[in-house]
Amino acid sequence: MTTRDDARRQISRREVLRGSAAIVAAGSVGAGLAAIAGEPEAPTSAPPLPWKWVKLDPLEAGRRAYHYYKVKGGCGSASYLSLLSLLKEKGGHPWTTMPDMLMVHAAAGFGGHGTLCGALAGASVIINMVTYGEKRDEYLQNNAIVDRLFWWYAEQDFPSKRFDDISPMPKQIRVKAMSPLCHTSVSKWSLAAGVKDLHDQAKIERCAKVAGDVIYIVTTALNEFFEGKWVAPVWRPSLAIEHCVGCHGPGTPTEKPLRWNQQGHMECLMCHDDHTSLGRSSP
Ligand code: HEC
Ligand code: HEC
Repeated sequence: MTTRDDARRQISRREVLRGSAAIVAAGSVGAGLAAIAGEPEAPTSAPPLPWKWVKLDPLEAGRRAYHYYKVKGGCGSASYLSLLSLLKEKGGHPWTTMPDMLMVHAAAGFGGHGTLCGALAGASVIINMVTYGEKRDEYLQNNAIVDRLFWWYAEQDFPSKRFDDISPMPKQIRVKAMSPLCHTSVSKWSLAAGVKDLHDQAKIERCAKVAGDVIYIVTTALNEFFEGKWVAPVWRPSLAIEHCVGCHGPGTPTEKPLRWNQQGHMECLMCHDDHTSLGRSSP
């Protein structure tokens, strides 16, 4: 029997053992065969974006994110890998070419720096990959979906009760994130929950559920988007900052020569005082 036959026999046994995992591994098995037969592996490059979205079950995706938070290195991996693993299983190539640990550094607001919540970061990678170049109305949808996702996040009282059935700590206190920043989102919750240690089990539960909540909503939105049902909601500033944006909004062209406009849709009062409340239009 030739080496090649041996390899084939091994593979078919492995396929039986692994079930659906064999489908995921199909690419690397093929590469192994070529190497055994002495054929040089043809260099392939990833196809250009966008890659095809496959309709996914939002609850299954969210539960994976909750679980991966604990076993795959935190929120960045949790959100990215929950979607990627499902896309690999249900969509196959080219998703199978993506490395699993691409977003692990996004945990705790990227390397522990407390900037963007990693759950948002991991999800944004996939959002861009499937919606890149999609233009509806006047907006590029990869940007619109990411922007509205961050806006949605800031408004949420996290964590929801959606994953309480698989959590050892159901019914946790819910606190509004206020911004897409890890530092704000986690600190506001920790203060309200009386959690003083970042390694506290309650904080880990909370963030695992947040990753699940983010992925649940992203999966729902992308399913609807590709069924032609999702239209990006128009961003509206909260009441407290409506007037700020009137003068300083990113899209207030008349103010541009005065350099009043700023880049962003975050809650201004988190970082600025309201200089107009002192009865002055300028500081
Ligand atoms: C009626 C228009 C108006 C509104 C409303 C307004 N601003 Fe301003 N803001 C100004 C003007 C004018 C300046 C001065 C610009 C300059 O000096 O070039 C300014 C300057 C600023 C600056 C720069 C301060 C500095 O140190 O240079 C910040 C920050 C700012 N505004 C934040 C806000 C925030 C936050 C709000 C809402 C809570 C707000 N503004 C509402 C008109 C406005
Ligand atoms: C995460 C904190 C943060 C948030 C949220 C934030 N800002 Fe700022 N903003 C800053 C900092 C820091 C500066 C730089 C201030 C300085 O150097 O004096 C700044 C600068 C500005 C300036 C002066 C910019 C320029 O180019 O002259 C304006 C105007 C301003 N912010 C308005 C806003 C408005 C309006 C919002 C809400 C839509 C907002 N900011 C949200 C932190 C923030």
